[in-house]
Order: sequence, then C-alpha cells, then structure tokens
Amino acid sequence: MRVLIVGCGYVGRFLAVELSSDGDTVFALRRTPFDIEGNVTTLQGDLFDPASLGVIPKKLDAVVYTVSADSSSVGSYRKAYVQGILALRRIFSSREDSSPRFLFASSTSVYGQSTGEWVDEKSATNPESFRGEIVLEGEAAVKSSFDHACSVRFGGIYGPGRTRLPRSVQEKTFKLPPIRPYFTNRIHQSDAAGVLRHLLRLKSVPTKVVAVDNDPADLFDVAEWVSRRVDSSLPAEVEAGWKRALGHKRCSNRLLRQLGYRFHFPTFREGYEPLLGD
Ligand SMILES: NC(=O)c1ccc[n+]([C@@H]2O[C@H](COP(=O)([O-])OP(=O)(O)OC[C@H]3O[C@@H](n4cnc5c(N)ncnc54)[C@H](OP(=O)(O)O)[C@@H]3O)[C@@H](O)[C@H]2O)c1
Repeated sequence: MRVLIVGCGYVGRFLAVELSSDGDTVFALRRTPFDIEGNVTTLQGDLFDPASLGVIPKKLDAVVYTVSADSSSVGSYRKAYVQGILALRRIFSSREDSSPRFLFASSTSVYGQSTGEWVDEKSATNPESFRGEIVLEGEAAVKSSFDHACSVRFGGIYGPGRTRLPRSVQEKTFKLPPIRPYFTNRIHQSDAAGVLRHLLRLKSVPTKVVAVDNDPADLFDVAEWVSRRVDSSLPAEVEAGWKRALGHKRCSNRLLRQLGYRFHFPTFREGYEPLLGD
C-alpha cells in the first residue's frame, strides 16, 4: 500500500514507522525538515504553499491527515482543520489517477455533551467551543472531498513525552476538579497510530469512528491512581474558575472494537504505568 501521512508529528511519526515495518510504501510530509527511522520517504511541504506540494507522489492508496493547529486561534484552527483539507482536495481533484482512502484525525471536541452522558458516532454534535465547531467543519470538508473517508474522533492523546496529568500529580501541581465524577477520554499514542493503521487495513471504513480507550475515567480516579503509584498524596486544592463542567462525557469505543481493533493500552492504568517518572 502507498500511504501519505500529512502532518507527520507525534502520532504521524509513530504510524509511519509501523507502516514501513509492515512493508508499506510510506511518504511523510511536514513543513520542517525531519528524519524518521525505517524506510519512510520524508517530504518537506506546506499545505499553504501550493508550489511546495509538488512533492506529493501520485498513485496513493491512502492519505492520513494528522495536521494540528499552530496556536489556539480561530485562524490557526481553520487553516489546520479546514483549509488544509481543501488544499489537498485541489491536488487530488486535478489528478485522474487516484481516489485515495482519506483518514482525518478529528477530535471528541465535536461533542458538546457535558453532563457525563455516553456519546458515540450517532450522538448529536453541537460543540461547546469554536475548536469543536471548526473540527466539525473539517469533517464535512473531508466527507464532501473524498469518496472513501473516515473522521477518527480522538480523545486526548498521551504517551512518552506527553504526560502532563501524571506529572502534575507527581509535582503536586494537580488541582481537583470541582465536580465528581468528571469523566475524561483518552488514548495512548501507540493506539492512536494503531487505530489509523487498523483502518487502513479494513476493506471499507465507516464515515466516522470514536477513538478512545476502554475507560472514560473520572479525573479524580485517574489522579488518585497515579498518586498511589508514585507514593504521593492528592492536593486538597480545587481548580478555580469553572463555570460548567466542559467536556464531561463518556465516549464509547464500541464501534472501534466491533471493527476488530484491540488496544495495546486498554485503559490509563496500562498506559500511564510505564510513563510514571517520564
Ligand atoms: N493531541 C491530542 O490530544 C489530540 C486529541 C484529539 C485529536 N488530535 C488530533 O490528532 C492529530 C495528530 O496530533 P499530534 O499530537 O500528532 O499533532 P502534532 O504532533 O502537533 O503534529 C502535527 C504535525 O502537523 C504538521 N503541520 C502543521 N501545519 C502544517 C502545514 N501547514 N503543512 C504541513 N504540515 C503541517 C506539523 O509539522 P511542521 O510544524 O513541521 O509542519 C506537525 O508535525 C491532529 O490533527 C490533532 O489535532 C490530537
């Protein structure tokens, strides 16, 4: 399979290495020069510099879009999640040779539910933030631009080098959420890449899939588990400034499991354990 990874950062790099070790022909694009282990062709290009996109190869079977925003401004979000996709659409619509499968790294921020309810692919998407709204626009752009497309709604991605929560408990800067339970949804880097790899191997893909681990855990429970593992104690201080419990929901990965995906790190416990002290 010939696969292009656009926006080859934390997740994309992990995926590139895995696919190349499977024997796929992998191309990986980002703006800054970079190296990747394994047999991956690295390409330097900017989605907003059309001339630089001439490096994109032809006859691709799949494109995986894992571009993130440079900042949390509306403009950066729109560039990363909507305009970048339209830039790729222009390239692929001018070519007669390919209609690649397109996997879009979306986010569970498309859900506005915040009273602890379960959500899945069929749930309403009324985002609370402009971020979720723009990511949802990105999903629509993907759907209207590519025939075989899937929006993969990731929860918070953690893993080596991305350990803010356990570190804050260890460093005693963690602040308790003012409500309990306060559900949070996450996925390990290795599973985020694993899900994308799995979706590339399926005969066909759903238009959207929620990608979180098996345990939408109460943040207090997560922090308490970490504190026990590192022989620390939880602070009594409660996080100030909460008007409402934004994002308090439980995302279901049932469809992902029905599609045959098996998690390397089924919950935060397996995922965080080797990272404590990271
Ligand atoms: N992190 C999370 O918790 C989380 C949660 C839900 C969804 N997601 C989504 O999952 C995806 C992957 O996340 P990640 O953590 O792997 O992101 P990341 O590490 O920030 O990687 C994003 C990559 O995009 C490249 N990029 C940005 N603008 C570009 C442009 N104009 N042209 C070409 N490349 C560009 C960046 O490289 P250069 O700067 O070199 O171009 C970077 O390598 C993102 O779409 C993110 O929004 C993440």
